[in-house]
Amino acid sequence: MARILSGIQPSGTLHIGNYFAMMRPMIRFQAEHELFCFIVNYHALTTVDDGGALRANTLEAAMDFLALGLDPERAHFWVQGDVPEVAELTWILACQTSLGLLERSHSYKDKIAKGITPSCGLFTYPVLMAADILLYQANIIPVGRDQKQHVEITRDIAERFNNVYGETFTLPEPLINDDIAVIPGIDGQKMSKSYDNTINIFEDEKALKKKVMKIVTDSTPVESPKNPETCNVFNLYRLFAPADRVENLRDRYAKGGTGYGEVKKELVELIWEFFRPYRERRAELAKDPGAVRGILAAGAEKTRAVASVTLREARKKVGLNY
Ligand code: ADP
Ligand code: TRP
Repeated sequence: MARILSGIQPSGTLHIGNYFAMMRPMIRFQAEHELFCFIVNYHALTTVDDGGALRANTLEAAMDFLALGLDPERAHFWVQGDVPEVAELTWILACQTSLGLLERSHSYKDKIAKGITPSCGLFTYPVLMAADILLYQANIIPVGRDQKQHVEITRDIAERFNNVYGETFTLPEPLINDDIAVIPGIDGQKMSKSYDNTINIFEDEKALKKKVMKIVTDSTPVESPKNPETCNVFNLYRLFAPADRVENLRDRYAKGGTGYGEVKKELVELIWEFFRPYRERRAELAKDPGAVRGILAAGAEKTRAVASVTLREARKKVGLNY
């Protein structure tokens, strides 16, 4: 039994890229492993400066997880900021982290290239993520490919700390499903809350249709053969359709005579039906936000019990317990 941990930022509404890359695999793990799943609102502060939006998105993300099947009795399920031990460990780790290690972060460089004015928080983001992982002594971290380097940075920080102070932290491994490493958004770039190109998990029907119809395709005429590998519509279709339907679409692409518009209509139907049972449960949860807050409070309490053991150990090692 492994200890599996991953988090998601409440920096917007959760989308189907988040679902297939992170949420579904995490929810599946809860049956056989020790699962630590959380909503990283401290991380979201690096890009969100609207308190109301952060509050709303945090609660909505929790409802999404619960509706999709996360079981708070089995798993540790909490909001990052409800376990403030992580902030203290971040500081302890920051003092063992070289500037150069953080300067090599692709995610930091990408965000700056996109015009975000960097704060100290954004620069320190990987140290907070290392604290998230090391505080719980997690060994497997399921993430999308964009997060692989952050897990490597975590290992570097843990190794350095263990070398200086003696064996303290478990070295984690990233777990990346190559099949769904990058899910395209409606513009063909990586689907991301920050690019305004998402299809959300619990989209209403009209918005879903509108977004799917907007998915960018090439200009191959209806009668010509099409390349499924480079087609954004196909790449989303294969996530929702059963294998035989995916193969059938592959043949139709090869033969020609199937237009993108027709496939998009099928895709709307597939997505809508795929999330139907979860949508009903999601609507129930939305009626009682107080109950969801209660679940999160209990989750934080259960998680703090684990966090405090590691933090006590780290404080002792560095000499904060005089
Ligand atoms: P976003 O880019 O939408 O803000 P996050 O950074 O919160 O998403 O990512 C949460 C998890 O979902 C991470 O493990 C990330 O790798 C994964 N993920 C997000 N978008 C995609 C995508 N388009 N394809 C594959 N994985 C994704
Ligand atoms: N940085 C991750 C992302 O944007 C979210 C995250 C924060 C995380 N802490 C984590 C993922 C710990 C895995 C483990 O997707």
